[in-house]
Amino acid sequence: MIISTPPFCPVRFQDPDLLDSAFHASTDMHALWAHLRDNRPVYRADPGRGREPFWVVTRHEDVSRVLRSHTEFSSRRGTILCVLDLNTPDIATDDMLADTDPPRHREFREPLNKAFSPAVIARQEGSIRKLARRTILTALEAGDVYDMAKPARMFPMAVSAEIMGLPPESWERLSELVMMTIAYDDPSYSVGSAQATVRQARHELFEHFRDEFARRSRDDTDPDVIGVLRAMDLTEGPLSERQAVLNGFVLLIGANVTMPHALGTLFTLMAQYPEKFQAVRENPDLRPTCLQEVLRWASPVTALMRYAVRDVELQGQTIRAGEPVTAWLGAANRDKRVFKDPYTFDVTRNPNRHVAFGVGPHYCIGAGLAKASLKIFLDELLDLVETVEIAGDIEHVASHFVSGYKRMPLRLTPRKAAVR
Ligand code: HEM
Repeated sequence: MIISTPPFCPVRFQDPDLLDSAFHASTDMHALWAHLRDNRPVYRADPGRGREPFWVVTRHEDVSRVLRSHTEFSSRRGTILCVLDLNTPDIATDDMLADTDPPRHREFREPLNKAFSPAVIARQEGSIRKLARRTILTALEAGDVYDMAKPARMFPMAVSAEIMGLPPESWERLSELVMMTIAYDDPSYSVGSAQATVRQARHELFEHFRDEFARRSRDDTDPDVIGVLRAMDLTEGPLSERQAVLNGFVLLIGANVTMPHALGTLFTLMAQYPEKFQAVRENPDLRPTCLQEVLRWASPVTALMRYAVRDVELQGQTIRAGEPVTAWLGAANRDKRVFKDPYTFDVTRNPNRHVAFGVGPHYCIGAGLAKASLKIFLDELLDLVETVEIAGDIEHVASHFVSGYKRMPLRLTPRKAAVR
C-alpha cells in the first residue's frame, strides 16, 4: 500500500525498514507516522536479516507511557536502536545513566543534576553568547552562500565541551567521532562496516574520557562535569574509571547529536517563515514559545527504545515481556490528538506538550543547557541577521536514531545594525 496523503511524499507502507538509516534520510517520515498513528498505533516491525522484531509506538499518549513507566518498560538493556540494528548486546547496563532504571538511575542522576543546575548554566551564558555571535558573524563575513551544517555542529560541541571541561583542540575530532557513533552507515562518516565504524569511534571516545578522568582529582572544589563524575560515589563505592568513561560518553553524545539539528531546523524555519520570525524579533516575549515550537518541529531524537519488563497491553496489542519497544518522538510531536493543527509551525503555541526532551525519569538532563543555548543563539540570530535563504540542496544525515543536516547551504543577509 502506498500512502500519499498530501502534503507528503508517497511512502510504501508494506516494506519500510525502520532500521535502514538511508530510508530515514530519503523519506518524508511524517507520512508514515501519520498512517501509523491513525491505523496501527502499536505495530510490530520485523526488520528481517536475522534482526530482532520490535514494537513501534507512535501516538503521544503511548510514547509518553513507554518513556514514563519504567516498571513496564526498562532502559537497562539499551535505549537506542543501534543495539538492534547492529545486533550488539548493551555494554552499559546499570553503569551508564541512560541505561539504568530507578532507583539505580537516581545514584547517577542526582549528582549530575547539580552539574547542570540553573546556577551553573547562568555562569556559562556569557561564553555561550560569544560562541553564538562568533558562529553567526563568521557566516556573515563569509558572504554569499555558506554551509551552516558544520558550524551548527561545532557550536553545541563548544558549549558542551566547555561545561564538561574538554580542551578546545579535541573538539573537532570529538565531533567527527560523535557522528561516526550515530550515523555509522552514512558514507560521509563511516570508515568501513557499520560495526567497524562504531567500534573505532567508541574506542577513541573511551580513550579520550579515560585521559580526562585521570586529569581530575576527587577533591576538586569547583569541578566541571568530568570532575563531578570523578568525585561521584555509588552504593558499591566510588565511580569506577569504566563507569566514568561511559557517563562522559553519554553526555557528549546527548548534547552533540541533538542540538545541531535544533539549530539547523531553526535556520530552515527562519528561511521558510520570515514573517513569523519578524514577529518574534519585534516581540521578545514570543521567544520562549517560538523555541519550544522549533524543538517540537525538529524532534532531534527520532526514536528511543525500551524493553518490556512484563506483558503489557497497549492499544489492544500484547507486548510480551522481554520484547523491544520503540517510542517515536517525531511521530508523537505531530499527533493531532494533542496538538491543534500539528503541521502548522506556530510560534505562539502554548501549551506545547512536545516530547523532544523525552518524559519521565530520563527526561533530558541537558534540557536547561540546551534551552539556554538555543535562546541565546536565537537572540543573536535575530539581532544580526535580517533574512535567511536556502541557497542549494540540503542533505540529511543518514540515521534512524537522530535527525540531522550534513549539508545546509544558506545565504544570510545582515541586519543594517550588524554591519559595524
Ligand atoms: C536540543 C537538545 C536536546 C534534545 C532534543 C535532547 C533529547 C533528549 C531525550 C529525548 C532524552 C531522553 C532519553 C530517554 O528517555 O531514554 C535525553 C536524555 C539525555 N540527554 Fe538530552 N537532549 C538535548 C540536549 C542535551 C544536552 C545539551 C546534553 C548534555 C550536556 C544532553 C544529555 C542527555 C543525557 C545524558 C540524557 C540521559 C538522561 C537520563 O538517562 O537520565 N542532552 N535527551
